[in-house]
Amino acid sequence: MIGSSDFRNTKIPLNNGSGHIPALGFGTLIPDSAVTISATRDALDAGFRHFDCAERYQNEREVAEALHAGLAANGIAREDIFVTTKVWNTNHRPERVEAAFNGSLDRLRLNYLDLYLIHTPFAFQPGDDHDPRDQGGNVIYDREVTLFNTWRAMESLVDRGKCRAIGLSDVSLDKLLPIYDAARIKPAVVQVESHPYLPETELLEFCKENGVVLLAFAPLGHGMRPGLLEDPVITAIASRVGKTPAQVLLAWAVQRGTALLTTPKHPSRAKENFDISPLPEDAFDEINRIETRQRLNDVVNTGSPGFIPRVLST
Ligand SMILES: NC(=O)c1ccc[n+]([C@@H]2O[C@H](COP(=O)([O-])OP(=O)(O)OC[C@H]3O[C@@H](n4cnc5c(N)ncnc54)[C@H](OP(=O)(O)O)[C@@H]3O)[C@@H](O)[C@H]2O)c1
Repeated sequence: MIGSSDFRNTKIPLNNGSGHIPALGFGTLIPDSAVTISATRDALDAGFRHFDCAERYQNEREVAEALHAGLAANGIAREDIFVTTKVWNTNHRPERVEAAFNGSLDRLRLNYLDLYLIHTPFAFQPGDDHDPRDQGGNVIYDREVTLFNTWRAMESLVDRGKCRAIGLSDVSLDKLLPIYDAARIKPAVVQVESHPYLPETELLEFCKENGVVLLAFAPLGHGMRPGLLEDPVITAIASRVGKTPAQVLLAWAVQRGTALLTTPKHPSRAKENFDISPLPEDAFDEINRIETRQRLNDVVNTGSPGFIPRVLST
């Protein structure tokens, strides 16, 4: 069996030859700016080398502050971390994609990105308002642009050397297939909700067959209770193997060949979430047999995530 140190540093190859993505990723969807800085720093200190951002999270500057300080303090090179960000729904028109990309790059103070994702397959009315609504409170979608138009603009960012890999997020298999088939540069990563209650088995099989990395968000079920962290199968395995329920869930995700994103906000949880070990085969199989099914995030159907409004620290 693979050792714990190798396991927590698992890297999955990308299909375009541009390198590898560290399986354990830290997500920066954190509404509070001071917590964004401290949690990002703690994640880097704990060993995370993969950071997931988005223009929609409105905190790329704070992530950059923590990352640049942490790299300098610990002598870590830019090439030793993997940074992703995402183009938001209001920037799907091809002429807006490059400006959105450059804005993110400026805020992150980087000169290239490892991965750029289309945040959701839903185009919203273009403009500065991230959440355009009509008078009835309904999202205003943009019917003038197709997902494929946006994908072409993403491909040209790779052509110009601005980012190493591109992919999609919050996409179902039926939306991914036509893009995959028509793409000149194939999606390298798809980021979707996935955990034992939503294993996305069919999508994962497609990804494995085609060398696409499935990057799971909500591996801890967004920490909701009751929920996965209290599932009796998970808690029993945790006691048996001497790990916490969170560590069991994260290990399961890595062991089935996905990358994952987790968002611990305290240093002790950052260490805990990085300190995972491979599960015995019987424990892994037992989790695969869990039959509860639950999707926590409806973004895949609407493009509208249940975002927490930004809270600025005082
Ligand atoms: N593409 C999309 O539409 C999309 C949607 C959602 C998320 N994401 C990405 O995925 C990232 C991960 O978000 P997530 O909600 O899925 O993260 P998560 O780590 O699965 O869940 C976070 C929740 O779990 C709790 N938690 C973390 N570590 C724990 C531990 N060891 N024991 C017990 N509870 C623990 C946290 O509590 P505390 O707050 O108390 O620390 C928080 O409530 C985001 O930051 C973002 O980058 C993407």
